[in-house]
Amino acid sequence: MRIDVVTLFPAFFEAFLAEGVTGRGVQRGLLEVHTWNPRDHARDRHASVDDRPYGGGPGMLMKLQTLRDAIGQARTAAGSRGRTIYLSPQGRRLDQAGVAELASEQHLLLVCGRYEGIDERIVLSEIDEEWSIGDYVLSGGELAAAVMIDAVSRLEPGVLGNEASHQQDSFMDGLLDCPHYTRPEEIDGLRVPPVLLSGDHAAIARWRRQQALGRTWLRRPDLLAGRVLDSQERTLLDE
Ligand code: ADE
Repeated sequence: MRIDVVTLFPAFFEAFLAEGVTGRGVQRGLLEVHTWNPRDHARDRHASVDDRPYGGGPGMLMKLQTLRDAIGQARTAAGSRGRTIYLSPQGRRLDQAGVAELASEQHLLLVCGRYEGIDERIVLSEIDEEWSIGDYVLSGGELAAAVMIDAVSRLEPGVLGNEASHQQDSFMDGLLDCPHYTRPEEIDGLRVPPVLLSGDHAAIARWRRQQALGRTWLRRPDLLAGRVLDSQERTLLDE
């Protein structure tokens, strides 16, 4: 998958793309990320990328021309338009279903805003969709883009070390994750649940499902709201 990011702060993405799961995706050639800086397209002697909003008010906006030129440069380099996303609090809320939808694309183009936002004509002419990572305001789209890239790249085949591990993640089946334990078996009187030591794989799978359901029920009942529990799930919750 190729992801192009239009940002005033390309350095922001360097560490994140060199480390961990995303780093492995890049190293294996499964994930290709390029950044494009609107400042490289500034034409005045101050290299300005922002301007005052028409109608007045506080703050500045990202200028139309520099942003549009950077988007154009990204598309030319990629050889495709890319599903073009502007990260903003006004957008569609990102959840795991959305992540899976985006992960099925070959090419994403992410546009990060700074200041009070971008000229609306960029949204009208260049942007396919706005997406938000949550109901709070960040200082720019970079963190949101990084969140999106991380979540999407986990679903690219071959990026995760253990192919099965994302299938066990929270939300893959609409539930929170079950608790996990590693060695030692006991510490300060806190013991690993005996079922996990039993070697009984069916019992372990059942326990995990029950824990996932129970946690979701207690912590995020909203996730169960639209869901029809099957008979096995009802039994597990009743126990
Ligand atoms: N830019 C600023 N706040 C944001 C948010 N919550 N999600 C996505 N992009 C943003």
